[in-house]
Amino acid sequence: MSTQIHKKSRTRRVCKSIVIISLSLSIIFILIFSINPCYHTTQILVPNFNLNYYKNSQTTPTNISDIVFGIGGTIKMWQTRKHYVESWWHPNVTRGFLFLDEAPIQHLPWPPTSPPVRVSSNHKGIPYTIRMARLIRETFNAKNSSVRWYVMADDDTIFFLENLVNMLKKYDYEGYYYIGVNSESIISNSLFSFNMGFGGAGFALSYPLAEALAKNLDVCLNKYGKLHGSDHILQSCVSDFGVSLTQEKGFHQIDMHGDISGLLSAHPQTPLVSLHHLDAVEPLFPAMNRQQSLNHLMTSAKIDQSRILQQSIGYHHPKNWSFSLSWGYSVHIYEKTLPSSFLQVPLQTFGEWQKGAKPAFMMNTRGLSSDPCEIPHVFYFHSVEESGGGWRREVVKTYVRRLPRRLSPCLANGNHSADYLDMIHVISPVKRHVTEGSRRECCDIIQVEKGNSTTIKLRPCMKYELIG
Ligand SMILES: *[C@@H]1O[C@H](CO)[C@@H](O)[C@H](O)[C@H]1NC(C)=O
Ligand SMILES: *[C@@H]1O[C@H](CO)[C@@H](O)[C@H](O)[C@H]1NC(C)=O
Ligand SMILES: *[C@@H]1O[C@H](CO)[C@@H](O)[C@H](O)[C@H]1NC(C)=O
Ligand SMILES: *[C@@H]1O[C@H](CO)[C@@H](O)[C@H](O)[C@H]1NC(C)=O
Ligand SMILES: *[C@@H]1O[C@H](CO)[C@@H](O)[C@H](O)[C@H]1NC(C)=O
Ligand SMILES: *[C@@H]1O[C@H](CO)[C@@H](O)[C@H](O)[C@H]1NC(C)=O
Repeated sequence: MSTQIHKKSRTRRVCKSIVIISLSLSIIFILIFSINPCYHTTQILVPNFNLNYYKNSQTTPTNISDIVFGIGGTIKMWQTRKHYVESWWHPNVTRGFLFLDEAPIQHLPWPPTSPPVRVSSNHKGIPYTIRMARLIRETFNAKNSSVRWYVMADDDTIFFLENLVNMLKKYDYEGYYYIGVNSESIISNSLFSFNMGFGGAGFALSYPLAEALAKNLDVCLNKYGKLHGSDHILQSCVSDFGVSLTQEKGFHQIDMHGDISGLLSAHPQTPLVSLHHLDAVEPLFPAMNRQQSLNHLMTSAKIDQSRILQQSIGYHHPKNWSFSLSWGYSVHIYEKTLPSSFLQVPLQTFGEWQKGAKPAFMMNTRGLSSDPCEIPHVFYFHSVEESGGGWRREVVKTYVRRLPRRLSPCLANGNHSADYLDMIHVISPVKRHVTEGSRRECCDIIQVEKGNSTTIKLRPCMKYELIG
């Protein structure tokens, strides 16, 4: 009796569930097919099987061949931008395309040192931003065999390829990634988005995300085509896929003016990935033009790219001097013992992107005071040599003073002028420096005075060592 009642109620419950399920299914069905698309183009929907669950752990680490670059440029500017692209492009190694708005007839024959060129399709009468936003689809459709990452950039973006590859290695290319950086300028971020990968700095899209964007681009362009900036259109679209920006501070938009040596001398503790807007700022090295400066930095970055611009701080206590090294770029000497935390704040040698904006920057800066204790003696990268062999191989970089400091000595910490110095040698091991999860490298001032030069040697910091 009781079992029968039980059975009956169970049957009733099952029936009820079936009714509920079929009702909900039909509601979903009606909902899907009754929604009028707001746009003329339709979204492309395909079931998403998350490949990560079945991932083959045997995949090889990402290398340069797994990346395809999409570079946007214009015929008008190509002559002046060409050397930027050629400074990092490696023919037969880097894959990708330069997209121009017109056939580069005046530049033919097209040199093998430049990326293969394509003319953007169907862009006549279409705004520049739309043409640039479409590049992701054009790049995606142009080359898609065994690609892990699409890296989008402008014709005045400069990449440090080894660092770019090592940065991308950290991420799962089968996941959904949008990796880049926002602007240094608060106002630029507020006008566009704080969550946007700025196009000039360059940004990386993992294959699945690039594919989703390419397939749905028309929907995005209809929705967001009126926004200023192709990078903002893309960011809005990426956002609609439920993907956020992964910030990597090695990318640099350089929305600043003037002398950016202050920034380059106190780079964030992460490998340098890109630079941009070098036309908008003074040459990176004094007494050189922009092109020579860039070539000079690239020469420096050729040997041990992992260390380029990495900051190390050391002290020479008998003279109360502080040394701040930006590897491969500059050495600053202060005639005072200043805390490492203070020296990691960039000197504001540069100006705002938009004059008068306050606060101007997405970072703390140190104003330029007239206090001789806080104004450094500045030495810039001059030349590089390798010495020794095998495990004893070392790199010796020499930095020279370009201009006298023209200030009286700092008296607050004794009276130890560094005016006589005109050269600094920095010795470092030939071994890739991994920044991820490690500390800045420590350095010793191993020879403070030999003629007019000083020698510094980099070493790993000791276990409990406090830099100061
Ligand atoms: C780069 O990785 C691919 C696999 O994605 C591999 O086929 C290729 O040989 C690698 N190339 C280099 C230069 O290591
Ligand atoms: C690239 O490869 C092609 C074919 O292998 C070769 O002819 C050409 O010289 C290479 N270009 C450069 C710049 O190395
Ligand atoms: C690349 O993608 C396009 C369009 O999705 C397709 O027609 C083409 O066959 C693909 N090419 C390769 C080499 O996979
Ligand atoms: C270094 O600075 C401290 C603090 O100002 C001072 O007491 C000390 O005498 C200075 N040392 C030398 C060698 O000048
Ligand atoms: C600092 O040292 C220099 C050279 O040793 C000397 O000429 C100068 O008078 C000193 N200044 C002060 C304020 O002691
Ligand atoms: C060091 O510099 C001073 C002045 O700049 C110069 O007179 C002197 O000859 C230099 N010494 C050496 C060893 O180069």
